[in-house]
Amino acid sequence: NSVSLEGFTHYMEKEIYEQPSAVSNTIQALSGFAPEAYGFNAPDFFKKLNRILIIACGTSYYSGLVAKYWIEKIAKVHCNVEIASEYRYRESVPDPQCLVVAISQSGETADTLAALQHAKNQGMEMSLAICNVATSSLVKETEAHFITKAGTEIGVASTKAFTTQLIALYGLAVCIADIKNRLEQSKDYILDRLSEIPSLLKEVLSHRGAIEEWAQDFSNALNSIYLGRGQLYPVALEGALKLKEISYIHAEGYPSGELKHGPLALVDKMLPVLVIAPSNSLIEKVKSNIQEVKARKGRLYVLTNDESILESSTKNFHVIQLPKTHEDLESLVYTVPLQLLAYITATIKGTDVDKPRNLAKSVTVE
Ligand code: G6P
Repeated sequence: NSVSLEGFTHYMEKEIYEQPSAVSNTIQALSGFAPEAYGFNAPDFFKKLNRILIIACGTSYYSGLVAKYWIEKIAKVHCNVEIASEYRYRESVPDPQCLVVAISQSGETADTLAALQHAKNQGMEMSLAICNVATSSLVKETEAHFITKAGTEIGVASTKAFTTQLIALYGLAVCIADIKNRLEQSKDYILDRLSEIPSLLKEVLSHRGAIEEWAQDFSNALNSIYLGRGQLYPVALEGALKLKEISYIHAEGYPSGELKHGPLALVDKMLPVLVIAPSNSLIEKVKSNIQEVKARKGRLYVLTNDESILESSTKNFHVIQLPKTHEDLESLVYTVPLQLLAYITATIKGTDVDKPRNLAKSVTVE
């Protein structure tokens, strides 16, 4: 490949480590939350829209799920997120006032392109691409677009494309809120807070040693469960997807609150249960989910910045401390350790990390 590995063993590893700069470049591209950063017609779309439909596949779908939390909380706009291959064949209720947001790293995913076409055929004319490739079909076929600044992503398992999509989507929520006069803080204040993310990601990457210990345990597992709440639920889904894709270990992401409705039956002393537990407004709920797993002798792996959880680390209760950030931005900080965990676990297992079996970087046929 023409892109150099620059001393890293795999492209995926390099791309994980590129995230502080990829995220920083994408924050720059938001131009201080100027709506025009999403296209010359974006300000008009943002004024007119009364709801948002997000369509995407794979990892891009999970960034869309995180975006729903932001769009509804910050912009107070109803947001629906659909898997492109489902939406394109489903009889749904079209709304001409709906902005269709298609998210794709490559801009060539067949289902995402077809879902966009389906929405257009139904009379939804306002479309926006969040895409990493400026020359892609998706960018050509949408009315407005924002290009993420991840740079070329080679590893099949997406990493920096995901975190840069999150920046683009967070910016989208802020811009829409601003245009609709719903922003509760100043744009400068929000930008300052967002601008701390690249250095927090660097800090997270420095926890590699602790994650290596977890990866030793995960590499011996056949199954695992990832739990999160709120915007950390899609992060659990994405973390589980990373592990599946490259280490071939079955991993299931679940909303913590659903634990007792099924997955709890799987918990025994063999099953690693990873919990994303930042100290935010939902922490007490997550702590009681942790207790549910503990009571069944589950093996817990907890990412947190909560003091009382940090103090309770024991042999079957592994804890990694992550930096504190604003509640709205936790998805960015908590994604990176899950990427590293999947990556290191896969290298222990000796799989073909950059080209996992049966998978393609971009699925251009149905
Ligand atoms: C494939 C890739 C994934 C990616 C998905 C969607 O499955 O292996 O990493 O998330 O396609 O691709 P897109 O380019 O549309 O984001």
